[in-house]
Amino acid sequence: MKMAGMKMINVLAGVVLVMSGLALPAAAQEGRGDVVYVPTPQIVVDTMLQMAKVGPKDFLIDLGSGDGRFVITAATKYGASAFGVDLDTYLLKLANQNARKAGVTDKVRFIEENLFTTDLSRATVISTYLLPEMNLKLRPKFMELKPGTRIVTHDYHLGDWDPDEQRELIVPEKKVGTPGVSYLFSYVVPARVPGKWQSLVNIGGRETPLEFNLQQEFQEIEGKVEIRDRSVDLRGRIMGESIRMVAGGRNGVPRHEFSGRIGDGSIEGALVIGEGASRQQAAWSAKQIQRGELKRAADELPEEK
Ligand SMILES: C[S@@+](CC[C@H](N)C(=O)[O-])C[C@H]1O[C@@H](n2cnc3c(N)ncnc32)[C@H](O)[C@@H]1O
Repeated sequence: MKMAGMKMINVLAGVVLVMSGLALPAAAQEGRGDVVYVPTPQIVVDTMLQMAKVGPKDFLIDLGSGDGRFVITAATKYGASAFGVDLDTYLLKLANQNARKAGVTDKVRFIEENLFTTDLSRATVISTYLLPEMNLKLRPKFMELKPGTRIVTHDYHLGDWDPDEQRELIVPEKKVGTPGVSYLFSYVVPARVPGKWQSLVNIGGRETPLEFNLQQEFQEIEGKVEIRDRSVDLRGRIMGESIRMVAGGRNGVPRHEFSGRIGDGSIEGALVIGEGASRQQAAWSAKQIQRGELKRAADELPEEK
């Protein structure tokens, strides 16, 4: 997945030029700040909002809202509340007019503000169509958001943060970047689990203590679990507040699959040991005994390969 992301940077180099206004100045009639205005085709807006599973309980923020199409579609088609920020007063005026025409002024707002200073804490969904370096600058702020917050980006991903879903859409009317093609990326902000955790699991009537030492990079988990005096490698992934980790399955250690829901310093879920007919299941809960730091990926574009 990471390699695919790196190749994508290569493929999208042309889009950067266009969005910077270098290759196609005619496209840069509006827009202020760090990237010119290029609207996202409506079919791409719809698909991104579907990827983010936007619904009536959501609060969407579009960073660099242009004519307001993400914000207004989130309200009209999915019943969400939403707001957009932009620095271009003409586009803000147009977005407000479009919201009036769509009859959603009670659900949406547009604010003149630098997107790098926008308070994102209320967001349950964030959409962007920004340059790669802008996405990377925003990434640490995204990682601080409430677990489960969805982020959808158009044409540019978030560097070495693996998307939870990505799609390629054929869009004949798209003239910038890779003409006729849009790249869509969707992320779910993961809960944080780095550090040490302890469990006491009843396996076949026997209370078995387990100790986990977990490292986390974005939504990926690596670490060790101590099972009956053996230190076993473990790998896993977090999706919002859900976790799934697998250890063992070789060198005489049966496969252990842990899955659960992450709370504040606790996880509640299930452990499945072994495979096939000899499979056993037990309730699994874990308590955090020491917090660790997230592994921070460098805020730089990965090198092209
Ligand atoms: C590529 S357009 C995307 C517009 C809209 N989100 C869409 O997808 O149709 C980027 C928008 O970001 C705005 N923008 C650029 N830098 C900004 C900044 N620092 N703060 C707020 N808005 C910014 C531009 O004015 C432009 O409207």
